[in-house]
Amino acid sequence: MDFTTNIFETYDKQWALLTAGNLEKFNTMTISWGGLGTIWGKPVATVYVRTSRYTHEFMDDNEFFTVSFYPEELKKTLGVLGSKSGRDIDKMHMPELTAEAAGESVTFKEAEVTLVCRKLFMQTLEPKNMRPEIAEQFYGKDAPHDMYIGEVVNIIRR
Ligand SMILES: Cc1cc2nc3c(=O)[nH]c(=O)nc-3n(C[C@H](O)[C@H](O)[C@H](O)COP(=O)(O)O)c2cc1C
Repeated sequence: MDFTTNIFETYDKQWALLTAGNLEKFNTMTISWGGLGTIWGKPVATVYVRTSRYTHEFMDDNEFFTVSFYPEELKKTLGVLGSKSGRDIDKMHMPELTAEAAGESVTFKEAEVTLVCRKLFMQTLEPKNMRPEIAEQFYGKDAPHDMYIGEVVNIIRR
């Protein structure tokens, strides 16, 4: 597998979609926090999902998830997927995106790159373990983030 990118720019500026479930029932949301690296001798992708997100349920119920990256033209769509919940809109049938199977998970045909990940680990990021100003800024009123580490089992490119 080969994936050469500036990972700081890719997540933070280009954004990504985090998708979990199967073609019959899945959810997706925009993310801009994440990482790529290695642990336990495996290539991994790490994502952070607030426990309040609908996607969180799918992350817990499914063994696989995908992280997918899109061309600039789809940024507006990613904006919608990052501000509305799948509890309120039909994220499985967005007019701009065509869902397709990615191994045992789901991605979209419009993705330039999709990382197919198998969940290895999850843990809540406990505010009590953070620097106080970060705990205050990000978790004063809002739900905590759960961290998911997934083994990158496949990289799909267009
Ligand atoms: C640019 C951008 C980046 C985001 N990054 C994250 C993230 O890394 N983790 C997270 O929990 N929410 C993140 N969000 C917020 C979710 O995408 C948003 O709450 C979404 O509506 C959740 O959808 P869901 O309820 O269908 O899961 C981000 C939103 C945007 C616009």
